[in-house]
Amino acid sequence: MDRILTVKNISKSYKIGNAQVHALKSTTLEIKKGEIVVVIGKSGSGKSTLLNVLGGLIVPDSGEVLLDGKNLYALSEKERARIRNQKCGFIYQNFNLIGELSVINNIRLPFDIAGKPYNTKREKELLDILDLGKRRNFYPTQLSGGERQRTAVARALLMEPSIILADEPTGNLDLESGNKLMAFVKHTNRVQGQTYVIVTHDLEWLKIAHTVYRMSDGRLVREVQK
Ligand SMILES: Nc1ncnc2c1ncn2[C@@H]1O[C@H](COP(=O)(O)OP(=O)(O)O)[C@@H](O)[C@H]1O
Ligand SMILES: [Mg+2]
Repeated sequence: MDRILTVKNISKSYKIGNAQVHALKSTTLEIKKGEIVVVIGKSGSGKSTLLNVLGGLIVPDSGEVLLDGKNLYALSEKERARIRNQKCGFIYQNFNLIGELSVINNIRLPFDIAGKPYNTKREKELLDILDLGKRRNFYPTQLSGGERQRTAVARALLMEPSIILADEPTGNLDLESGNKLMAFVKHTNRVQGQTYVIVTHDLEWLKIAHTVYRMSDGRLVREVQK
């Protein structure tokens, strides 16, 4: 299988006053096209930092991230943002929906940013599968947590990104909504070969993972068993 993402020896520290927090300690990782990678680990272990570095959002102190062969941190910020918008679908922990935009306009936002025509066929499919059709003209404050989550998922998937990066995607969901989301991830992976990186402390995700890593104090270790 082709590789979509290669991460070589990335490190990242945060400075807080005089103290330094080493959030990532020389982390290396390879992700193949069509793989579901799940990264588990305690709160504060560096999972969100890792995901943001993978997606071009946090510049690491050292190391390389190759996305579809492009060395993300050798690019200008503008070029990196363009590649990110083109290739990465982000599902943020807090969803990052825009309060002033309706469900449908939140979902279309990446297309507006990229200046691309909407893919109305895929849009309809996603609204159906994620059961958001009835909510398309609602605003985020009018939605339940699960509906917000599903809106964030639709937005991430509409562009048909090469890779979806999800930060605690079931963190705010009840069991049923969580199970639905997992079934959806499994389905899009099987049918479309969608690649996923999911960072979470929810061990339910291990059921659908192809590869599991554990993040512990800024280091990533491959888990042997599934
Ligand atoms: N912007 C930041 N400034 C300072 N410290 C940070 C920042 N982001 C994360 N950290 C610290 O880095 C460590 C890893 O955080 P994070 O990547 O968010 O872990 P996780 O997602 O596993 O909870 C934590 O100790 C956290 O406090
Ligand atoms: Mg986190």
